[in-house]
Amino acid sequence: MNARRVTQLLGNWRRHGARQGAVDLAAGIRLLILDGRIPAGDALPPERELAAALDVSRTMVAAAWERLRADGLVVSRRGAGSWAAIPAGVTPREPPEDAATIDLARAASHALPGLTAAAEAALPRLAAELGTHGYYEQGHPELRERLARRYTERGLATTPDQILVTSGGHAAFAMALRLFTGPGDRVLIEQPTYPNALEAIRAAHTIPVPVAMVDDGWDVEGVEAALRQSAPRLAYLIVDFQNPTGHRLDEPGRQRLAAAFRRARTPVVVDETHVELDFDAANAPLPFGAFHGDVVLAAGSASKSHWGGLRLGWIRAPSDIITRLVVGRRGMDLGSPVFEQLVLAQLLDGPPEPLLERRALFAGQRDVLVTELRARCPDWTFTVPDGGTSLWCLLPQPVSSRIAAVAQNYGVRVAPGSFFTPHGGMERWLRVPFTHPGDILREATRRLAAAAASVAECGAPIADNGLIPVT
Ligand SMILES: Cc1ncc(COP(=O)(O)O)c(C=O)c1O
Repeated sequence: MNARRVTQLLGNWRRHGARQGAVDLAAGIRLLILDGRIPAGDALPPERELAAALDVSRTMVAAAWERLRADGLVVSRRGAGSWAAIPAGVTPREPPEDAATIDLARAASHALPGLTAAAEAALPRLAAELGTHGYYEQGHPELRERLARRYTERGLATTPDQILVTSGGHAAFAMALRLFTGPGDRVLIEQPTYPNALEAIRAAHTIPVPVAMVDDGWDVEGVEAALRQSAPRLAYLIVDFQNPTGHRLDEPGRQRLAAAFRRARTPVVVDETHVELDFDAANAPLPFGAFHGDVVLAAGSASKSHWGGLRLGWIRAPSDIITRLVVGRRGMDLGSPVFEQLVLAQLLDGPPEPLLERRALFAGQRDVLVTELRARCPDWTFTVPDGGTSLWCLLPQPVSSRIAAVAQNYGVRVAPGSFFTPHGGMERWLRVPFTHPGDILREATRRLAAAAASVAECGAPIADNGLIPVT
């Protein structure tokens, strides 16, 4: 990260008089690293350049760096420069399960009404399947046909041979990782991003290259620079109601980013898990694949639109990539369950009302959460998204892990900002989903506000970033 960008991010960093300059500068940089706006692992500008950009003495920058080194937030090596870092020291553990606890860590909801009826309607189709071997490595033809039709309706002409059915959207990304990367390869991601995608990147022994999101969405120049500097083998983006920020990339942004990936010849997995949770569907942008689709793999999922228990997702990509994915799949699994595929095909064929009702329900729940948070946590700020599942809240202090730890004592489980980054940080951010009914959201906000108040009063111990399952 260059000196100009750090200066921009720092903003008005002086809190005290000129004699406290190093303290204030260290505090400003510390916050940026813990927030993830300077991702851990990023190179920091040389002292001389930063001093010039900030118009301060080099001694002051050196003193600030010294403080940050002492806290483990900056690591330096003679001749090689300095990097942002997050100090180690967290031990994972399983959280206690308790029926009275409200789970805000999973941004997921119950099944769409009509699922039982769709299952009943799919039964005769199943009977016809029972005489076959039941292996559909690319997915059941009926479901691929329905999914292709949905892409065509959304403005991206698609044929069934461009669809591969997977066991969930997450498995779709894991398959793409297997096809395009090997150990040690780099994978470009947004920061913050979906925690399980980070797990998949780790499990594939690949290296995340985070590009920080900015206040209103994507830092297109930052992505272009990361493509030039890091030459990633694959990229992973969530351009529709990004998890966790809720941002949606507009068409000019899609055009520009897709062109950058094409120039760099970097295939990009675009996670569309939330695309159908669109409260303003009339104004939906064209799918990312409509722009330079030869490098775009759309990873879709039925989990948020219909039900996570179906465990069905898909990839939409050029047919030659689909063929390679089908071959690669043999090292992993040999297809997805036929009955669930028939049920989903039935649901996609059915009337649109249940999905329209789900959108209206989620929009209403979002409004409840917005009202409750504004009333109970007035110093938290957030952008109200037009879809998706969550609010991404900016706290006045870097205490989100503390709040998440204390919240469990108040009967609510929530995912702190640090879960959404490869190296921790983002301590001023908390994701609060609106996937529960309004009365539960009211109670959850009351508990969350009580937990936050207790952290503000007494400064609770730093959370152990436990294995809270997040979706
Ligand atoms: C962005 C994103 N991708 C993927 C998934 C997982 O999808 P699936 O249940 O289809 O594997 C989720 C679930 O929350 C998600 O938010």
